[in-house]
Amino acid sequence: MFAGIPLLPEQASTLAADVDALYLFIVAVTAFFGILTTVVVIYFAAKYRTDDPLKVGARIHGSIPLELAWSIIPFLITLVIFAWASSVFFDLQRPPDQTLEIYATGKRWMWKFQHLDGQNEINELHVPVGRPVKVTFTSEDVIHSMYFPAFRTKADAIPGRYSSVWFSATKVGEYHLFCAEYCGTNHSGMVGRVVVMEPTAYEMWLTGNVSGGSLAQRGERLFSDLACNTCHLSDGRGRGPSLARKFGASEKLTSGTTVAIDEAYVRESILMPQAKLVDGYQPLMPTFQGLVSEENVMALVEYVKSLRTQDTAVSRAEAPEEPAKPTAPQENR
Ligand code: CUA
Repeated sequence: MFAGIPLLPEQASTLAADVDALYLFIVAVTAFFGILTTVVVIYFAAKYRTDDPLKVGARIHGSIPLELAWSIIPFLITLVIFAWASSVFFDLQRPPDQTLEIYATGKRWMWKFQHLDGQNEINELHVPVGRPVKVTFTSEDVIHSMYFPAFRTKADAIPGRYSSVWFSATKVGEYHLFCAEYCGTNHSGMVGRVVVMEPTAYEMWLTGNVSGGSLAQRGERLFSDLACNTCHLSDGRGRGPSLARKFGASEKLTSGTTVAIDEAYVRESILMPQAKLVDGYQPLMPTFQGLVSEENVMALVEYVKSLRTQDTAVSRAEAPEEPAKPTAPQENR
């Protein structure tokens, strides 16, 4: 629709047209009143121009209808913008239930992406066309911002916190990926590209780039390398709570409150185990802050996530010879 206007990037996601329509509406309203005011000022300046320096204008004592009009009309216009923008905002913030999940970390000066099947890429992101993709990410140093202009979506990468963006690409092609937060000397070089592929080409790309098992399998290896499995026994008799079938559920804490077990909670529990202690357990777990990189934390999070569909309470630690589970499809299970 706006492809002929070079000021706007290409629209390549399901929400891009909505964002542009809202943006252009606000520009149109602003331009209309800006031009109206300018024209009226020039018109009156010309109409009431006088060369007599001593001439005084007529006194004005206010006008209730006029004041009401210039208060109520802008109020109604801003309400329209508020309602419209809220609707677009919620669409941008809430990914659909079934998304292809990808993890990413930003650091000076690169973006690193981790696919659930185990593929890693730097400053490049391969995604299939026509499928909602959710990227969960954080920063390893300073604040960065992941920006996909063609998808009209952007979110800050903040150290110590998970952010996410989602999009569903509508066109095969290559699009920009930018860092949109000044992060130091090479900020301008912290760019990359998103490659939107046909689903079959994407599957081929996935199988052609396998590297050492899925993300969850890497997390599982870390889980035993870091000896997490010595306390988090899956039968619940360990010194730490069992993690089987926990992700997506909620847990009662020693503070009496409950917490939803999501990516952010798992991450916090690895790095700051005492922050939200599960009811009935002692504060024994050491912090893994500084010992596990954000990328490895994501692998551990993905492993805990994979346990939510675990049918048996067999601990992987107790049965290390158990063949690795086949990689589940990279849906949000
Ligand atoms: Cu990273 Cu700017």
